Amino acid sequence: MTAQDFILKSYHTTIETGSVKWASPSNIALVKYWGKKGNQIPENPSISFTLSDCKTITEITYTKKEDTNFSFDVYFEGEKNEAFKPKIQTFFERIETYMPFLRNYHFKIDTSNTFPHSSGIASSASGMSAIALCLMSIEKELTKDTNSNESEESHNAYFNQKASFLARLGSGSACRSIEGELVVWGETESVSDSSDLYGVKFEGEVHDNFKNYQDTILLVDKGEKQVSSTVGHKLMFGHPFAKERFSQAHENLAKLKAILASGNLDAFVKIVESEALTLHAMMMTSMPYFILMKPNTLEIINKIWAYREKTNSKVCFTLDAGANVHLLYPESEKVVILKFIQTELASFCENGHYICDQIGKGAELIME
Ligand code: PMV
Repeated sequence: MTAQDFILKSYHTTIETGSVKWASPSNIALVKYWGKKGNQIPENPSISFTLSDCKTITEITYTKKEDTNFSFDVYFEGEKNEAFKPKIQTFFERIETYMPFLRNYHFKIDTSNTFPHSSGIASSASGMSAIALCLMSIEKELTKDTNSNESEESHNAYFNQKASFLARLGSGSACRSIEGELVVWGETESVSDSSDLYGVKFEGEVHDNFKNYQDTILLVDKGEKQVSSTVGHKLMFGHPFAKERFSQAHENLAKLKAILASGNLDAFVKIVESEALTLHAMMMTSMPYFILMKPNTLEIINKIWAYREKTNSKVCFTLDAGANVHLLYPESEKVVILKFIQTELASFCENGHYICDQIGKGAELIME
């Protein structure tokens, strides 16, 4: 597949109005994407767990119009929201080649998250993937009679691929939020169908140890982060360790593939924690340098290490581009780890808040 293959060539605009609704989850990377080039092309491959409960629910109502300007309104949790508009405008500009009907309709975008807005959880992955999926459903409506000799299966594959392709143009990591339970993005030798253009469902063997894997997000800092991901990615240009880091990500992904098959949780912990700390090490060694972890992030990491030392637990942590800690652990440890969180970790969270989630199956179309 090339970008050209996603250009919509013919469609009809006989449909006056309609509405579509999708729920799309957040995802957490195990091997991290940090650094991009060109049109949202990752400098290195990444793999993520799709989450289950942390999602964005978006409904788009489309109404035919005569002029050919972009026209849309955004509502967040029922209230008109101007702050999200510039990001969506940029997104429309980036994807219009692939979705020419964007200029034929007015869109009312109604969106809400299942997690609190000010939780420090990035909503760009779930938010952008939800919009991309809604637009794909609209494309499907507008092309209903034009692709009739295609099988249902091949259309579904195209649907997910293009949804991921579009989501990537909104926010890189959003391309990993279409499917579950593990998604690879970025071309790499160990995953044969991997692509820089979209995320692919990881089809390798996955051991039962990873079934219903748990992710509890410890909300260390609910505020806006001081350095955005956009700025952070750019600082990988000319970064003294960039080349090594990018090749390390390929190696870690290949190692993780074998670990996912064998179910070796000790090896899993090592790769995942090392990836999280490497991501933040890249930030700390950028120029200008910056730190997104907070003192309580480190307190939690030390508590996890001490807990593993004294128990046989396989709990580990990973970090996004922020101070919050994702605690990853097997379902078999759910009860004990929840106790550990309540007694030893919750006090390091803002207002004692944390969100319990687990690995999920991907986005869902909501029929009403
Ligand atoms: O999708 P972006 O551009 O916000 O980048 C996010 C990158 C990390 O969350 C730090 C890592 C990842 O692979 O998700």
